Amino acid sequence: MKPIIAPSILSADFSNLAKDIEMINNSEADWFHVDVMDGIFVPNISFGFPVINAIHQHAKKPLDVHLMIVDPDRFLAKFAESGADSLSVHYEACTHLHRTIQGIKALGMKAGVAINPHTSVQLLENVIADIDLVCLMSVNPGFGGQKFIENTYSKISSLKDLILQRNSSAKIEIDGGVDLKNAAKLLHTGADVLVAGNTVFNSDNPSLTISLLKALS
Ligand code: DX5
Ligand code: ZN
Repeated sequence: MKPIIAPSILSADFSNLAKDIEMINNSEADWFHVDVMDGIFVPNISFGFPVINAIHQHAKKPLDVHLMIVDPDRFLAKFAESGADSLSVHYEACTHLHRTIQGIKALGMKAGVAINPHTSVQLLENVIADIDLVCLMSVNPGFGGQKFIENTYSKISSLKDLILQRNSSAKIEIDGGVDLKNAAKLLHTGADVLVAGNTVFNSDNPSLTISLLKALS
């Protein structure tokens, strides 16, 4: 199966966002990965609704929105209005995760759950059948361009087992430090979706880099 490639807008050129969106539109990428940070859940602030609306206006591919914010329930409807196709919330940020997942789906979006590097995949056992996506953080969230955490491979294997056990259709997304060296092993281990920020946008030919990732299996 060909991987789903989701370039992360966080590493795009915000002084000329339309150009990078066009590049993704014309590339073999599948989704736009859109990182929202609140400065509380993670030690960084990225962007909010005006920027997401602008991306949505130009994007011809689905928006995969990754919320690194506390208490995301406050904003689910606004993210739906802003054009999010899938919305991932952090396990660590949701007291009533099951309710949040139902809320995302009721708004017509695909529901994802992201987990930090220290969080065990087993904690998802009671929601895995209800979700469309698990975003496995392979760096500590907050910044692009960080070093990939090697323990991610064993988490992919455990998650794959859990998905099969529970008859879930959740896709496994890897987010953080994905590059042309580790991508093939991630896919062999069971990843379905590769997020790539730095690897795509800081390469000499971002569109070609996307094609190289897409050609892996
Ligand atoms: C990190 C974000 C990632 C980030 C990935 O907190 O969730 O999506 O943009 O960037 P790279 O691929 O540069 O590690
Ligand atoms: Zn992300």
